[in-house]
Amino acid sequence: MPGLYIHIPFCKQKCHYCDFFSVKYDVALVDKYINALVTHISQFKNKKICSIYIGGGTPSVLSLEQIQKLLQALKENFNLSEIREFTFELNPESASKDKLHLLKQFKVNRLSIGLQSVEDSSLNFLGRVHNFRTFCDVYDTARKTGFDNINIDLIYGLPNQTVKDWEKVLSRALAFSCKHLSLYPLSIEEGTPFYKTGIVADDNIQRDMYDRTVEILTKNGYIHYEISNWAKQDRESFHNSNYWRNFEYIGIGAGASGYLKRNRYKNIENVEGYIESCLLLQNTVTDVCGNLLETEKEYINDELYESEKIMLGLRLLNGGVDINCFDNQKHKTVLLECLKDKTLEKYNDRIKLAKESVFVFNQIVLKFMFS
Ligand SMILES: C[S@@+](CC[C@H](N)C(=O)[O-])C[C@H]1O[C@@H](n2cnc3c(N)ncnc32)[C@H](O)[C@@H]1O
Ligand code: SF4
Repeated sequence: MPGLYIHIPFCKQKCHYCDFFSVKYDVALVDKYINALVTHISQFKNKKICSIYIGGGTPSVLSLEQIQKLLQALKENFNLSEIREFTFELNPESASKDKLHLLKQFKVNRLSIGLQSVEDSSLNFLGRVHNFRTFCDVYDTARKTGFDNINIDLIYGLPNQTVKDWEKVLSRALAFSCKHLSLYPLSIEEGTPFYKTGIVADDNIQRDMYDRTVEILTKNGYIHYEISNWAKQDRESFHNSNYWRNFEYIGIGAGASGYLKRNRYKNIENVEGYIESCLLLQNTVTDVCGNLLETEKEYINDELYESEKIMLGLRLLNGGVDINCFDNQKHKTVLLECLKDKTLEKYNDRIKLAKESVFVFNQIVLKFMFS
């Protein structure tokens, strides 16, 4: 059974660090987009899925009516009888009590809230729309609405932030006792305002912050189960873990990726283009539409499959990768090198990333990709 990812590429405004695909929210355009999503969703009549993740962009920027239309379409088309996890991403400024009630009504059972920092000055620097008070109110409302499984996103390693500053941010975030934390070192992405103004991130300080994070969160009962993700016992994200296990998922929405029957695809990363392709789909010009909708497609042959399984699986710090996955000679050679330099470790028949190697993960991946 695959998972389902739906991309909502709209935000109130663009944050200064972000290069994810999203455009400014416009009610008329979004109405058309929701109609396009409904058409796309209707292609999967009775398809059984095990998880749903509605992400962005900013899914909570949608109006109550738009969210209702989308969730209703999911309910009427997919077979949701075996859904284990249903996540909806929220940004504090656009999450209202009514929206939270609606999500609850449609059986959303996990929220992911983009907090990013607890300091208003940092939020302002990052170009966020919300302040810390707004987040606290939303968190409180979500809990009162009956949401218990909540993730908080934070970014660390901002310019001039010291390890002590980050520890304070973490301890204020820990006060919420949320079930899951996604913590990302600030990365300066090409084309973003941060990149253009020459802001730089200090790798060494980010590394120190990461080391302290591991200590603090472990003491507070969180399990570090993926490079950037910590969870309380049994609260690891099921949907995201399935990506890392290289399982199948359907991608719906502009710019969304999917992976089905060894085919990786990406839908057209353009809102108007996506809407047009779905209109063709509605008029059942399926062949033409398939080509227009999925602009990038790749068949994953055995060699690539093995590389991807290794690259993705190593992100799961406790699970790792089955040693039998290192089947081809090139991968075996790289594995031996990595075991020798202790960047990877062997536990029974599993190969895992050494805790100290998390910050050199990308270099390890490159070795497997280009061996
Ligand atoms: C695609 S964003 C969507 C979440 C939601 N729209 C929000 O802004 O809260 C997912 C997360 O990636 C992280 N992120 C995005 N760009 C980043 C960057 N350049 N450096 C570090 N973390 C980043 C943020 O923590 C963000 O919450
Ligand atoms: S970080 Fe989130 S809210 Fe900010 S621009 Fe990116 S997707 Fe939109």
